[in-house]
Amino acid sequence: MCGIVGYIGTKDAYSILLKGLKRLEYRGYDSAGIALIDDLNLNITKKEGKVIRLEEADCKKEGSVGIGHTRWATHGEPNDENAHPHLSNNGSLAIVHNGIIENYGSLKIELKKKGYHFSSETDTEVLVNFIEDIQKTESLSLEDAVRVALSKVVGAYAIAVISKEDTNKIVAARKGSPLVIGLKNGEYFLASDASPIVEHTNEVVYLNDGEIVVLTKENYFVKDAKDIPQTPYVQTLEIKLEELEKGGYDHFMLKEIFGQPDSIADCMRGRLNVDTGNLVLGGIQSYSKALQNADRILIVACGTSWHAGLVAEYFIEELCRIPVEVEYASEFRYRNPIIKEGDIVIAISQSGETADTLAAIELAKDRGAIVLGVVNTVGSSIARVTHEGTYLHAGPEIGVASTKAFTAQLTVLYMIFLKLAFHKGTIAQNKYRQLLTELGKIPEKAAIALKSNEKIKEISKRLKDARNFLYLGRGYNFPVALEGALKLKEISYIHAEGYPAAEMKHGPIALIDEQMPVVFIATKDGSHDKIISNIQEVKTRKGIVIASETKGDAVIPKMVDYTIEVPVTHESLMPLVSVIPLQLLSYHIALLRGTNVDQPRNLAKSVTVE
Ligand code: M6R
Repeated sequence: MCGIVGYIGTKDAYSILLKGLKRLEYRGYDSAGIALIDDLNLNITKKEGKVIRLEEADCKKEGSVGIGHTRWATHGEPNDENAHPHLSNNGSLAIVHNGIIENYGSLKIELKKKGYHFSSETDTEVLVNFIEDIQKTESLSLEDAVRVALSKVVGAYAIAVISKEDTNKIVAARKGSPLVIGLKNGEYFLASDASPIVEHTNEVVYLNDGEIVVLTKENYFVKDAKDIPQTPYVQTLEIKLEELEKGGYDHFMLKEIFGQPDSIADCMRGRLNVDTGNLVLGGIQSYSKALQNADRILIVACGTSWHAGLVAEYFIEELCRIPVEVEYASEFRYRNPIIKEGDIVIAISQSGETADTLAAIELAKDRGAIVLGVVNTVGSSIARVTHEGTYLHAGPEIGVASTKAFTAQLTVLYMIFLKLAFHKGTIAQNKYRQLLTELGKIPEKAAIALKSNEKIKEISKRLKDARNFLYLGRGYNFPVALEGALKLKEISYIHAEGYPAAEMKHGPIALIDEQMPVVFIATKDGSHDKIISNIQEVKTRKGIVIASETKGDAVIPKMVDYTIEVPVTHESLMPLVSVIPLQLLSYHIALLRGTNVDQPRNLAKSVTVE
């Protein structure tokens, strides 16, 4: 949540920062701002709303040192005052911040006593004045004042600070929120993730928690919180610029939905060999014995990643016969969970930055669990704090509504546990080969599922004005129902609920009338007859039924209002294809309702606050 950028070098910083903010806008779009140093002046422009409003604003654009911010509001409503960068009282310092300063209230009281005044409601404005105060009273350099201030701050942050008294310098620091430095001769870039940096350089340093970096036009220095110099680990980025563009699609979400045949194949590339029956997942090899001997597995995640965990629960228990508990990371950490030394905890996250998931990981580690990450974003915090883990390799996901990450998470988790089942001997060799072969066919089946796009567009026209939706599925398709409902809610703002189909009669059936669309994920599986009965129950009450069904189903098309066909696959792999029509349905309904599909209101891609 919130994106920060910084640039120091010889070029015009404004355009670099502005472009960087556009790349980071998916992290928050309540307001945007830029601070630039030009000679001895510190010029700040900030505007409520999206980066485009900042771009349209009349402002001074000169300077080759600057910082920028795109905001997801925490403290204070989205308006110009609360927008970052924030200026300190004497006008010498400007700061951008991603995170929350928890003890800002007490710091503010102390600063007010000293005569400081505040024009915003933000915790960030308190922090910049705290730094100014320390710098003044202790006559410290900017970096020392930042270090001292941060030692007294409680909370999570990634910050960047510039000073008009020290014009060849950006000081940045992180704790709990990500920060990446891009390195180029005579130029340094700073950003919340690598996306603004990749077009300038692919040499980067991911700052570690507690580290402070000083960037000048000539050099950069990293120190830890105790002021001890660190040797930064320089990495080469593997992201390609075109992965960050819409590539001819109207929205990132549509590109990401249609990219699934490729992203699923990318997850399997170099890992799964259908011909030899080989499955290799390098990232978690040292813990393969621990996985084999696990008495139980805990999965922690949020949102769509939590839904992927629920699907995984079904196939892990079925294939490996290991009990699985899937926990909302936000609940897990606050309910004193029972974790035994050596328990396996799997953390699933697209961004690798979700604050609740990070906190759940810390708790599990403190209690002696082995924590494995299933993460998409390379170099992210979760990838770094877990004992081991495996990347999805799905490429950057930019649409706020998660789509390709879900199918990638399922693919990777399936590979891990199919292999484990084979090693544990909980499935026969021929079943292993059959499932492996079927997994290998998922990219082509995902491509077939996408062929329903035009039909779904037509169905969406009939349903776009509904005020509520129910999504129902059984077995493996129950988490898919939850995911379908979440997708619709977050981008179309229509209230939607997912339920196990059989639970309908225990309450939700009361909602059904001729206005209520009910989406059944009714692909052929062990509970097909049962779901037919559930459809009947809805039709009897005049509900509008949309059913995704497998090719060749002779019964369902005769019973329902709209059908969407999905290709046949093994029941345990069905979520990988049955989710696709639901992603498309929410996309088209949102589009028809005129919402911002890629940047839905109130949301942000990386939820870095609790
Ligand atoms: O990056 P993560 O996978 O940890 O994010 C978890 C959720 O915030 C995320 O899945 C969210 O629910 C999406 N907007 C859903 O589309």
